[in-house]
Amino acid sequence: MKYQSTQGFMPYFTFEDTLYNGWLQNNGLIVPVCVPRLTNDELLKFCNLSYKEVCLKILTLFIDSDFISDVELKAIIEKAVSVFPENVAPLKELYPGAYILELFHGPTHSFKDLSLSLVGPLLNHSLEKSGKRGIVYVCTSGDTGSAAIHVMKNQPNLHTIVMFPGGNRISKLQRQLITSVNHKNIHTFSADCSCDDFDFFNQKEFVPNLKKRYPNIVVTSLNSLLWSRILAQMCHIVYAYCNTSFNLQPLRIVIPTGGAGHLTSAVLVQKLGFPIHIVAASNDKNPNLYNFLSGQSMSKTSSVTQSFTVAMDIQFPCNLDRLLYFWSDGCTDTVKKIMDSFYSGIPTKADQKLLEKIQDSVTPMSVNDDDVIATIKRCFKETQYILDPHTALGFSHYYRDKVDNYPTVYCGCASPIKFVDTLYKAEIPVPKYFTEYVHNKELNDEYCHACPPKKEDWCNYLLDYISNKISESFK
Ligand SMILES: Cc1ncc(COP(=O)(O)O)c(C=O)c1O
Repeated sequence: MKYQSTQGFMPYFTFEDTLYNGWLQNNGLIVPVCVPRLTNDELLKFCNLSYKEVCLKILTLFIDSDFISDVELKAIIEKAVSVFPENVAPLKELYPGAYILELFHGPTHSFKDLSLSLVGPLLNHSLEKSGKRGIVYVCTSGDTGSAAIHVMKNQPNLHTIVMFPGGNRISKLQRQLITSVNHKNIHTFSADCSCDDFDFFNQKEFVPNLKKRYPNIVVTSLNSLLWSRILAQMCHIVYAYCNTSFNLQPLRIVIPTGGAGHLTSAVLVQKLGFPIHIVAASNDKNPNLYNFLSGQSMSKTSSVTQSFTVAMDIQFPCNLDRLLYFWSDGCTDTVKKIMDSFYSGIPTKADQKLLEKIQDSVTPMSVNDDDVIATIKRCFKETQYILDPHTALGFSHYYRDKVDNYPTVYCGCASPIKFVDTLYKAEIPVPKYFTEYVHNKELNDEYCHACPPKKEDWCNYLLDYISNKISESFK
């Protein structure tokens, strides 16, 4: 499988290269040059497979055997799922034909555990082959950080730097899961800013300078900027399809989205030929992605507003590059034109032809915080099921828009245990073990550094930190 930049003008990449490249020098992201279109017979062969078998089949479509053998890949998958219960991603049918896909049974209670438990070891496999060492940077809106820490603390060849927005921009338990780990390879930083601020800072300043200063070490990300994250997330979408639809019947899948990584995975599953229709659900407080998908302008200058769906408090859907690439059938000129206009601060929208492609694939949906609370309340009253705010944002589709008999899978992206304060707002009874978990004393220690107040000082501060605390281990 060959890979290339969404914005063209670079040589082809191998799968192994994709593990080392989030943002490329030309601002693009890595994508497969072409996505295989499976025949109906091939699609049908996915039905009745276990989660592990789906992973193997999907990953081998995109990873060449000269990077990793089937036996080694199977061992990585086996180990990855060993941190989950036997039913890795349970489907709960709350109403006839309306399923919650519970993606939060991993160690840090969000869907990020599923993909990172595969991506971390793939990265390590590559480093072991080459004998290289490196730094992984992760900017997180709350969930990726802890999932990355959980996987990376045991990878000896890598230091992981996690950056997260401070204040109450993430929940108490999200913060505890990020900051309570005292490990020599894990370094956490917070600042009074949004996740988007860290994203732009990494792309434009920190990563280029880090690479310049340490040209012999690997610098990579674990955000969904990394192709392998997108790939790994395809597995649970295919698994959900195969467990709810028969004989290639269509399925609707509702994805709560912020950075558009999960959405990109779903679009790729569509490209493989699975008959899914996607609803992309966003919070109306941060409407850039919704606006773009519905034919309106999005703007780089739109600032991030705090909402009840904190993990989606993002205005810059960093995977838009990839979405544009797939929707424009691989036209790198289209991607470049739209992204250049966005980066230069011009309000940017899709032309009619592109918009038709977008809307064939995805229905955008905008939800407000009141809907989130009302959905948590109503769902609990009618089914006794406790939704986390992100899942509730997607599930509000059921009460508002589900007027047909289409089977529909609602992605359960995080456990409600992470968002107890929002459950209180919805006035539903919070189980005792939820609150006991937050007060667990192992989570109380705080190992975290504060970035300097001024953004222009962050880069030198972090480079000095690396030179004092990390660079010794590269010698
Ligand atoms: C709980 C939860 N739901 C949804 C999302 C949105 O995912 P994406 O950024 O891939 O759109 C996130 C992202 O951090 C999340 O943590």
